[in-house]
Amino acid sequence: MLKINENYLKLQASYLFSDIARKVASFQEQHPDMDVIKLGIGDVTRPLPDACIKAFHAAVDEMGTESGFHGYGPEQGYEFLRQAIADNDFQARGAKITADEIFVSDGAKCDTGNIQELFSIDARVAIPDPVYPVYLDTNVMAGRTGTFADGRYQGITYLDSTHENSYVPELPAEPVDLIYLCFPNNPTGSTISKEQLKIWVDYAKENKALILFDAAYEAFIRDDSLPHSIYEVEGAREVAIEFRSFSKNAGFTGTRCAYTVVPKECVAYDSAGNRQPVHPLWNRRHCTKFNGVSYPVQRAAEAVYSDEGKAQVRELVGSYLKNGDLIARVIGELGFDYVGGDNSPYIWIRSDRDSWEFFDMLLTRAGVVCTPGAGFGKCGRGYIRLSAFNSYENVERAMERIRQAL
Ligand code: MLT
Repeated sequence: MLKINENYLKLQASYLFSDIARKVASFQEQHPDMDVIKLGIGDVTRPLPDACIKAFHAAVDEMGTESGFHGYGPEQGYEFLRQAIADNDFQARGAKITADEIFVSDGAKCDTGNIQELFSIDARVAIPDPVYPVYLDTNVMAGRTGTFADGRYQGITYLDSTHENSYVPELPAEPVDLIYLCFPNNPTGSTISKEQLKIWVDYAKENKALILFDAAYEAFIRDDSLPHSIYEVEGAREVAIEFRSFSKNAGFTGTRCAYTVVPKECVAYDSAGNRQPVHPLWNRRHCTKFNGVSYPVQRAAEAVYSDEGKAQVRELVGSYLKNGDLIARVIGELGFDYVGGDNSPYIWIRSDRDSWEFFDMLLTRAGVVCTPGAGFGKCGRGYIRLSAFNSYENVERAMERIRQAL
């Protein structure tokens, strides 16, 4: 008799965004004339930058020639892309990351979900609340938690991100080994200063812990004092893995390209207490389970770092930030307490209603899709998240409808 992995039975019925998509589809079926505006899932709406499209086309044409054809590429990514990433995203900001520490992949979702496989099943895990559900669910699937009760899994150390701490969690009260952090934060849109991040790096060093730093939204940072990478903080190379994506800056959500940085100094420990570098383990996993991102997609990603590409990406991100600014302004005028919208595409809105009730109300009365905060954790109860990923015209219409509905 084949037995299943019972950890899957501990999961909530379905993935948050699938749940929302189903509710919205059912609403649209019942109200076919209603023009629904989606400010829910953080999916980009604008086309790929011209520089990326040109590089994409050229690479597809190359693939049609004898001399330019590419079969299996290096699992870790082509050198041209890894070097462009190291030069532009790290060395240009004073962070000493080299090309061979970068692993190109098809998404930060997969990488943040898969990385936990490298660590022991009894690793003590700290996860922010509210949180991007992937970090938590993948640890549940792996068996690092007990059952779910009152919005929380037993065995996880939750790092509350609340109005009181400006949505930047404090150090855990009990010792932990693996710490997930995400800044600019999804879902709250909050940011972290270099000084605050240094506190986490120092904690990880003192406690032989490791930080998994999700920086998928770094391109939205406009405040020059904020760190774009954890490696801008001294000492982070030994204790942090960073995740980045081309999804939110260059619009690659449907094209798929991301990367993970695993510095050579980064270690975890074996049962005898010996230091074990994580880099060769992630390399081993990547080579075994992943066959690389396609050549044309990597050429398109490389174009993000051309002069033309940089200007186009800045304009693209700027357009979403303009939406964020509008959402934040209207939400503020309506008297809500909120965070985000600047340095981030998300606006985290506090209300005294149940967040699913608020979601239903916005959908039925305004035809606007948001994400209920409770879907991101217990601390998200009483909150909703609005995303700035849409056209300015749609955001203007959505905010006008929300104004009317409230
Ligand atoms: C979100 O809406 O939180 C994100 O789009 C989800 C993702 O990037 O996978």
